Amino acid sequence: MSTNSNFSRYQRAEDFGTPARVSTESVSLTIDGVDVTVPKGTTVMHAAALAGINIPKLCATDSLEPFGSCRLCLVEIEGARGLPASCTTEAGEGMVVTSQNARLADVRRNVMELYISDHPLDCLTCPTNGDCELQDMAGAVGLREVRYGYEGDNHLSAEKDTSNPYFTFDPSKCIVCSRCVRACEETQGTFALTIDGRGFGSKVAASQDQPFLDSECVSCGACVQACPTATLTENSLIEKGQPEHFVVTTCAYCGVGCSFRAEMKGQEVVRMVPNKDGGANHGHSCVKGRFAFGYATHPDRITKPMIRDTIHEPWREVSWDEAFSFAAGRIREIQAKYGPGSVGGITSSRCTNEETYLVQKLVRAAFGNNNVDTCARVCHSPTGYGLKSTLGESAGTQNFDSVMKADSIVVIGANPTDAHPVFASQMKRRLREGASLIVLDPRSTDIVRSPHVEADFHLPLRPGTNVAVLNAMAHTIVEEGLADDDFVQARCEIDAFEDWKTFIGRPENSPEAVAEESGVAAEVIRGAARTYANAPNGAIYYGLGVSEHAQGSTTVMAIANLAMLTGNLGREGVGVNPLRGQNNVQGSCDMGSFPHELPGYRHVSDAATRALFEKEWKVNILPEPGLRIPNMFDAAVAGDFKALYVQGEDVAQSDPDTQHVTAALSALECMIVQDLFLNETAKFAHVFLPGASFLEKDGTFTNAERRISRVRKVMEPLAGLGDWEATQGLAQALGYDMNYAHPGEIMDEIARLTPTFEGVSYARLDELESIQWPCNADAEEGTPTMHIDEFVRGKGLFRLTPYVATDERTSRKYPLLLTTGRILSQYNVGAQTRRTHNSSWHEEDVLEMHAHDAEQRGIDAGDWVGLKSRAGETVMRAVISDRVQPGVVYTTFHHPASGANVVTTDNSDWATNCPEYKVTAVQAHKVTQLSQWQQEFEEFTAQQEGFLAEAKAGAEEPVN
Ligand code: SF4
Ligand code: SF4
Ligand code: SF4
Ligand code: FES
Repeated sequence: MSTNSNFSRYQRAEDFGTPARVSTESVSLTIDGVDVTVPKGTTVMHAAALAGINIPKLCATDSLEPFGSCRLCLVEIEGARGLPASCTTEAGEGMVVTSQNARLADVRRNVMELYISDHPLDCLTCPTNGDCELQDMAGAVGLREVRYGYEGDNHLSAEKDTSNPYFTFDPSKCIVCSRCVRACEETQGTFALTIDGRGFGSKVAASQDQPFLDSECVSCGACVQACPTATLTENSLIEKGQPEHFVVTTCAYCGVGCSFRAEMKGQEVVRMVPNKDGGANHGHSCVKGRFAFGYATHPDRITKPMIRDTIHEPWREVSWDEAFSFAAGRIREIQAKYGPGSVGGITSSRCTNEETYLVQKLVRAAFGNNNVDTCARVCHSPTGYGLKSTLGESAGTQNFDSVMKADSIVVIGANPTDAHPVFASQMKRRLREGASLIVLDPRSTDIVRSPHVEADFHLPLRPGTNVAVLNAMAHTIVEEGLADDDFVQARCEIDAFEDWKTFIGRPENSPEAVAEESGVAAEVIRGAARTYANAPNGAIYYGLGVSEHAQGSTTVMAIANLAMLTGNLGREGVGVNPLRGQNNVQGSCDMGSFPHELPGYRHVSDAATRALFEKEWKVNILPEPGLRIPNMFDAAVAGDFKALYVQGEDVAQSDPDTQHVTAALSALECMIVQDLFLNETAKFAHVFLPGASFLEKDGTFTNAERRISRVRKVMEPLAGLGDWEATQGLAQALGYDMNYAHPGEIMDEIARLTPTFEGVSYARLDELESIQWPCNADAEEGTPTMHIDEFVRGKGLFRLTPYVATDERTSRKYPLLLTTGRILSQYNVGAQTRRTHNSSWHEEDVLEMHAHDAEQRGIDAGDWVGLKSRAGETVMRAVISDRVQPGVVYTTFHHPASGANVVTTDNSDWATNCPEYKVTAVQAHKVTQLSQWQQEFEEFTAQQEGFLAEAKAGAEEPVN
């Protein structure tokens, strides 16, 4: 079900009490006279729920393993002694169960009476009134009076903890059922909560009995979700009251693609509740998707189109039509003066597939060139190239659930607990079950060591040496006879494999040879290689620490080689899995956002593909690839590229070598920015088209598993138009006929033109909840696992992956290596999360340094540090950390003023131009003031914000 307009407690997601079990064997039993057959291992409570019988319960919920503490779910079982708890009793063959009779009712009333005698009787004013399991159970067991009175010892005056900005902990309402503790352990894997004390004195405690905000809690909300009472409650629900209806939609933050129920009151979101039916998240969430939605209605939102002639003058608010015609007029003038190729567009991985498709269509059909690129250029373009050339498809091979069948998990250049938190929780669950873990990362990320999870091998390689280490792992596997020869013979191109085998066997690829360069001991590399190769199922997960390198594409190929070599492809539990950063980075690539590819990764030089699109779009498409983002910037600086349409991206903050980017943007004669806020890029714009948040639009996102999920509108666009409508308006003003009535029609066109999307439609998505592409006649419900019998390209291709050291090397002038990454609470350029309470956890970007490097430079924690590279200089505060090794410093890039990308350079991947964010040679020194760039940034920002304020104030003045 996707929407529900009669929200009440009865629309609470169905709860079977204990998790479903999977077994090839089944058992049959009778419950209250109803015959039911269930998989072996199913509990009596779950079996009863399947038979439509709801046994009262408090400590049980089907997202958690049974615990058996509340004694409310007792049943009678013929031949069994006493009254067993149905939540902890396995259903047995021939069992005869009674769940309801006078004796059981009596026992349950007594249990409830004890709970209620120590519970505030403020139901009428309680925020969860009507949505409280304790309240429901009191009704269900027919409790009418409490004989014990309320005078004795109780917890009614226990103090609330309001430290967390998103939820309140009110211990006076706690029934100590441990659901929160178990949710934190089992679902989230953080182990932040315990039950402290014993008997009457037992209570829930966060970490060392600290306020939630100061504890290890990462604010995922799993405990709030699990709590059956109002003890843990969302602040938004306390403030706004119970929701009235809900709409199922998809998180707009990271590439996990969690499904949520947006629970609403009118057009206001009361809370975002993770959807149990979500294929990617199964009812779990992280702090961003669960709580950080307030940016959508933040006062900084710009809701009126604006134009101006130059960036040195104030904005003028105008109508949509005026903005379109101003923008279109400028583009046509520029094309007439400088040529048709002097304009281009950048699509957004934050926007929907439909919106992205329209922007690339606008560029190809209305601008008349292929100058379209996307932010994947700066993150996962090497994934597209590397996987396509080895396996035949530019995407990950598995679904997330596959990790539950992995025996050895390799994480390379990824920090899943921060960047892909919900998947990280699932991965940690598998690791707690015993899978081995190998982490290749210069930094000691959370996954290396966290409660009940510890990497078997951490390879703290020097930034820039991924290829050397992966080659050495492959060398070990070949040399020690650990390869899966049968798989290679049957599934791969043998000539290429033999060439590769000769290459990889060379002495320079041995662990011993690369140990010094990479900083990883040979025995550690060998141990990691053996563990991965010997595991029945070995799965590789990787992130931007792989792709954002001069050898990004080579690294992706080396990963594919390893997986083919060990036969770890084509079934569950294995695979090559890029952890995509942004919510729709997979989709934006699928939709033809690259200058050389039409939707579905088909090269523009292919006449048959062009003909297909030309017929549908009624234009001629150029057969030559257009400009990539870095080429656009270079051409702008050179004076050949003059107009750019950027939808939902902030290149001035996110792209490397900020000063070069801003020089390029300043040189443009027409810059059109479509966004929610006046972001860094918009400060250089001449046309501002107000964007719509994910809550204001219909469409689809495609996550890292190739899972296409619906985004559903829960409120009207604040600016009146959805993003797709604005692109359509611009196309029409340019004289190109675009006439969609709804994004569903855009998806129909995508499906008509793109073989992997052939079976996708909104109706089908409503039916199946989500679909993993390819979806076509051969795979009507999609494809969870790819390359099962053969690779998409036929035979897998081993590519040679010689290690070439990056030019970006340390020197006396720049003796440290800077590497960058993300933090859990902030998202990418931070435009959304900085406008929420998430900043409580990360107010500014800081520089992590090892104590040794700090001491050498006289730097203490909290000092301002000047960070200088050959590209530029910025200043941020120091944090002394043993997460980084000596010689390596680390920062995030979530705050524009910290200018992390002022320092990163224009080095890039040889094949795709993906910037080498992960390796920059720098020097760090103690300073007392901001860098020159930061001072200029502050002045420019003040000026541009002043222009915006003037426009807004002007618009508010009454018209005479
Ligand atoms: S806070 Fe909620 S979930 Fe946790 S023990 Fe108390 S009532 Fe149970
Ligand atoms: S919010 Fe998440 S991390 Fe924090 S205590 Fe609850 S379950 Fe644990
Ligand atoms: S894990 Fe990613 S998709 Fe899921 S809630 Fe968090 S940010 Fe959203
Ligand atoms: S629900 Fe079974 S003991 Fe609590």
